[in-house]
Amino acid sequence: MLLFTPWFWLSAGGFLAVAYIVKCLSSPLRKLPGPAYSIFTSVVLKWHEFHTNRTRYIHRLHQKYGPVVRIGPNEAAFASQTAVKEIYCSGGSGYDKTEFYDLFKVYGRRTMFTTLNKEDHARRRRILADRYANSNVMRQPSLNGIVHRSKNVLKRCTESVGGSLDLYIALHAYAFDCVTHHLFHPYGVDSLQSEKDEEIMREVAFDDSLQNRLVEFYNPLLHKVIGKVLYLFAKPRETPLADDFVLSASGGESPAVFTLLSRMREKQHDMEQLDIAAESLDHMAAGIDTTGDALCFLMWELSQPSSLHLQRRLQQELTQDPDTQFDKLPFLEAVVQEGLRCFPAIPMSLPRYVPRGGRTIDGYFVPEKTVVSCQAYSVHRIDERVFPEPDKFDPDRWLEEEGDAERKRLSFAFANGGRGCIGKQ
Ligand code: HEM
Repeated sequence: MLLFTPWFWLSAGGFLAVAYIVKCLSSPLRKLPGPAYSIFTSVVLKWHEFHTNRTRYIHRLHQKYGPVVRIGPNEAAFASQTAVKEIYCSGGSGYDKTEFYDLFKVYGRRTMFTTLNKEDHARRRRILADRYANSNVMRQPSLNGIVHRSKNVLKRCTESVGGSLDLYIALHAYAFDCVTHHLFHPYGVDSLQSEKDEEIMREVAFDDSLQNRLVEFYNPLLHKVIGKVLYLFAKPRETPLADDFVLSASGGESPAVFTLLSRMREKQHDMEQLDIAAESLDHMAAGIDTTGDALCFLMWELSQPSSLHLQRRLQQELTQDPDTQFDKLPFLEAVVQEGLRCFPAIPMSLPRYVPRGGRTIDGYFVPEKTVVSCQAYSVHRIDERVFPEPDKFDPDRWLEEEGDAERKRLSFAFANGGRGCIGKQ
């Protein structure tokens, strides 16, 4: 029987290999700059991904090949303003998200962040956007809670003078307290003062389940087979304290009018309780890590001896006119912008599928269903005309009138377009 001869299997294997090579070589992605191996395999990319080094690997490729780079047989990375506009803003909310976002489903439900297509996303965003509008966030009952928590974090800082303070914990606790105030008041937490609440924050902020989830994403079967062994090296995402807290808070009676919870409860939206809880947990996690990390990076930078002159200028600006609103202080604004540019809290690729029919991005035709992305880390650094000495922390660059529009167009810390950060304000 021909089927059982080694020659049959060798010939079949050879045929498949040749067919695969021909397919790769005839792909339009062949014309994109990038390492030769990336036209055949994404194994190098995945290797870096598993070793939490994907962002730096892609950045090195951008430095070598420019703002357009092929990173796999079906994947390309971009770093220009025109690519950001095309991928994330065309048609309002840009291209559809990829299944990568399945990794972030909560309680088995899709949230606004994890919806893949525009229509589902727009429906959910229309409900939630109201509570993130400046007109809601900047009102007294909402602001009072933030002011109260800011005083708590300052108290911790002043009490630590002469001793030491774990600022990572303090700033993540501050972010946790503020976000739960916005989501659930009066059922928010007080982790700056309560150890029990701090435990919940630690559970979310110290999650390191990415590798486990990547195995599940790329190879669900393997994940099922080796799940128990994998557990020893790469923990799955387990946040029982946060789950319990959100399930309980999102069931609380009569939440304050400014909260996201009160909005989701409105009858006309017809949201199931589990969807409300899932959405809440998602926003809570999104609010803790991003805000906590961004503040922490910035404080670290400002605390360096080389930043003493920046500290003095900030103090001077703040004390000169204590009645000025914080968002009207130009140097403070420049320091925050530069912090977000140098240390974006989400520096990584935000993957999207090229829509039906394919698209031309930065002069290259990219076929439909190709995974394309930009990463803030590179968008903020690669064009040295706009950001000279890109690795230098230099808030003054944001005070120059010349090039202001270009710098702002290349600001990608909160992403861009209709799927950009809803919590930006
Ligand atoms: C420095 C602080 C923050 C940064 C740098 C940041 C960054 C981002 C980025 C880059 C995205 C897009 C992600 C993607 O497309 O995959 C995003 C989306 C999102 N962010 Fe933020 N974020 C911050 C704070 C917050 C806060 C405080 C909240 C909530 C209270 C929040 C809630 C969300 C939500 C719900 C989305 C999904 C939006 C959608 O799909 O329409 N973020 N954020």
